[in-house]
Amino acid sequence: MLYAGKWDRNGLDYQALKNQWHVVARSEDVVAGQAKAIRLLGEDLVLWRDGKGRIQAWKDYCGHRGAKLSLGCVKDGEIECPYHGWRFNAGGKCTRVPAHPDQAAPASNRLIFRHHAEERYGLIWCSLLKPTRPLPEFPQWEDGSFRKVFAGPYFYKGNALRSVENFLDASHFPFVHAHLNGDPEAPEPLKDYQVFKDERGLHTSEITVFQPYGDHRGIPVTSRYTYWVFNPTTAYFVKKTGETERFCTFLNATPVDADECIIWLIVAINFGENLTEEQILFRQDKVFEQDRLIVESQRPARLPLDMHQEMHVRSDKLGIEYRGWIKELGMETQAQRESAAPATVVLS
Ligand code: FES
Ligand code: CO
Repeated sequence: MLYAGKWDRNGLDYQALKNQWHVVARSEDVVAGQAKAIRLLGEDLVLWRDGKGRIQAWKDYCGHRGAKLSLGCVKDGEIECPYHGWRFNAGGKCTRVPAHPDQAAPASNRLIFRHHAEERYGLIWCSLLKPTRPLPEFPQWEDGSFRKVFAGPYFYKGNALRSVENFLDASHFPFVHAHLNGDPEAPEPLKDYQVFKDERGLHTSEITVFQPYGDHRGIPVTSRYTYWVFNPTTAYFVKKTGETERFCTFLNATPVDADECIIWLIVAINFGENLTEEQILFRQDKVFEQDRLIVESQRPARLPLDMHQEMHVRSDKLGIEYRGWIKELGMETQAQRESAAPATVVLS
């Protein structure tokens, strides 16, 4: 199963992700009255807004004859199936069967599947099962001294966890981002750094990287990166240059399937008033295109969670900790599942 493109549902990576928040769309992508199809962890889902404007994320499935609800529409705060026009309210209850308006609608509670959905930071978040962690932190979102720019989405034919690990990897800059974020002829050794783990996830000490080709302004800088991972598919760094200049990137990788992901990015920056949004996006687009080629080339597609499967050095510390953390989360979920469903005792 090493090269499998679909999720192995018993795999620890899948187990680690099914009860976590994932970004599935931008808030503005889901408009009142319309249903939107998305895919998360190999499941087809439909997003829509109920009468109060609250986001709903359901399995894209009508329990009458199995049609996709996303082909329907939303009327009076209820979703209407495209096939026979049945309607379902925000609670998942069938409220209308047009062929038999005088009869009570059949019970739908076992055949309509609602997932967990929230909105924050201009993004829609979804968890297939009850999430075990809170929504990630993004302190600069509320801070008016930071300008925010949405970048992407970037579509990768690659694994979401591989792409997050790529984002957390500071030793690839001179090669993948040659002559932009480093010099391949004279790559700087990476100084040792620390990785901390607490109830919020992982974070690092400052990692110093010299950028000879400059930052967004083209000024050569020594940058100090601090990384955080709040959620398996949400990572974030604050890059300090100078005393007060901060450049932050809040990255979310939607695990569409085991070998497919979508990257949603928010940049928060407190300097460079003269930089245009186009200049910021131009650089992000270039960097993520360069990363895409590498992540799509990685095999196996899924992130190996056993240490012996790949070679490691000290600069990989964050990636190693990240893999270990994903494995732990997966094992926790698996243990819960086992304790929730005790084996049947067969009496002979
Ligand atoms: Fe949905 Fe018939 S399949 S109403
Ligand atoms: Co990169």
